[in-house]
Amino acid sequence: MGDQPPSFQMPRGGARQGPPSLPPPDEEENAPPRLSEDAVVDLEAEVRGSQVFDVLEQLDRELVGLVPVKTRIREVASLLLVDRLRRGYGLDSERPTLHMCFTGSPGTGKTTIAMRMAEVLHRLGYLAKGHLVTVTRDDLVGQYIGHTAPKTREVLKRAMGGVLFIDEAYYLYRQENERDYGQETIEILLQVMENQRDDIVVILAGYKERMDTFFQSNPGMSSRIAHHIDFPDYTIDELMGIGELILERQHYRLSDEGTTSFRELMERRMRQPRFANGRSVRNALERARLRQASRLIGAGGSIGRDDLMRIEGEDIRKSRLFDGDDVSDEEPGEDGGGPAAENGHRSS
Ligand SMILES: Nc1ncnc2c1ncn2[C@@H]1O[C@H](COP(=O)(O)OP(=O)(O)OP(=O)(O)O)[C@@H](O)[C@H]1O
Ligand SMILES: [Mg+2]
Repeated sequence: MGDQPPSFQMPRGGARQGPPSLPPPDEEENAPPRLSEDAVVDLEAEVRGSQVFDVLEQLDRELVGLVPVKTRIREVASLLLVDRLRRGYGLDSERPTLHMCFTGSPGTGKTTIAMRMAEVLHRLGYLAKGHLVTVTRDDLVGQYIGHTAPKTREVLKRAMGGVLFIDEAYYLYRQENERDYGQETIEILLQVMENQRDDIVVILAGYKERMDTFFQSNPGMSSRIAHHIDFPDYTIDELMGIGELILERQHYRLSDEGTTSFRELMERRMRQPRFANGRSVRNALERARLRQASRLIGAGGSIGRDDLMRIEGEDIRKSRLFDGDDVSDEEPGEDGGGPAAENGHRSS
């Protein structure tokens, strides 16, 4: 803001006429307009001004299911809006703690929701930048004595003003090794989570049971988390809904037989090892696309727009999951990158 020419400065007097509205996200000034005790505020204008509901509506449109998760995001948004209004009246209270823990199986939408959460927090003026920095243990913990603190601090610096998302956070703690360097990271995180709450939101993510164990051994961490949000596995109908959304965005569609086959494919995939919810849907559709292309080119002749959009039953049924009852999805050709790629857990 400092480098803006003076002619772009907002006229200060204008604010008193209409209902006060929240400053746009980029405005540096974070304090809400000061109100007299008997002033009234137009809530709808406040909500519109913050543009936060645009993000929430987009979230509703673009993400299938996840009702409890979406509800919690709405609650947090309301809390922050009310908090800002209260501060406008001089009703000071501590800023709400917003560190969170997202638990759930691979591919249930944790990273996607974290990105949206960061945006919501930015629009409501809670976070200055609202970007998401995703890390795992290896990004935070060093290999040698003296390496961990600078590594952790460097990551924290990158995440300031946004959300630090720590995937599989329980790997920071190794019960069997008291002198593990992960402990150093945990201690730095604890300090920052407490003292720099206004500058950074930390989201820990991972499997529920392991996270519970981690919190038992690290009560300090547990007490700093304000929201524990669990991401349930998707039902078959939700997986089908996710598939439809993905296809629609890419201008594909399933034929009737394609739909039936895809449902059956996903039902089989759900029972397989390393099933990864939304990500498995995405991968299965990518493979179907590959087969559709081969089918079209193989058949030759002339084709139209609809042929290029339509995925047929046979494009789905050629999956190895239809070959026998107990076919694993591990064949490299089948899911392009192997199981590690599908459930998204990096090893680097
Ligand atoms: N509810 C949903 N609606 C639409 N798409 C979804 C939904 N949930 C997940 N997806 C899609 O599935 C893929 C995986 O989602 P995401 O990366 O957010 O999962 P994750 O929980 O972070 O997984 P992991 O634990 O493996 O990191 C993404 O491509 C995402 O768009
Ligand atoms: Mg993720």
